[in-house]
Amino acid sequence: MSYKAEEIEQHNKRSDAWITIDRKVYDVTKFIEEHPGGEETILENAGSDATDNFNDIGHSEDAKELLKKFYLGELEGRVPTANSPYKVDPISKPPNTQWLVVAFGVLGVFVAYMYLS
Ligand code: HEM
Repeated sequence: MSYKAEEIEQHNKRSDAWITIDRKVYDVTKFIEEHPGGEETILENAGSDATDNFNDIGHSEDAKELLKKFYLGELEGRVPTANSPYKVDPISKPPNTQWLVVAFGVLGVFVAYMYLS
């Protein structure tokens, strides 16, 4: 059985989570709560390709063996890239308030000057 990226990308939920690793498709829904590396790491990869993330951690042989339990089939075509709703947003930049500080500083100096002179 083989699956296309478009289909895998639909399975990006906690209640229905597929990932791909080395062009193999896995249904890891039941594993989310059991993952020793935490739920978040799996959820963030749901519906997308987890090859780099999985390999970067340096998972043990046991972990690779465990994967077989969740095997669904092969990946056909491009890798899936769904944005999981659980993906952590990059920290948004605070608004640039520097000019306000400068403006009030200048105003303060001006007012002080007016009062003192
Ligand atoms: C469904 C595929 C996965 C399986 C079967 C799996 C399995 C495991 C297992 C068995 C461990 C315990 C340590 C070990 O034996 O290596 C572990 C730890 C860990 N996993 Fe996964 N994992 C999977 C996917 C992922 C993904 C996609 C990430 C993404 C970042 C991830 C991140 C981690 C982290 C951070 C740890 C903790 C390492 C530590 O505390 O030393 N895992 N995983």
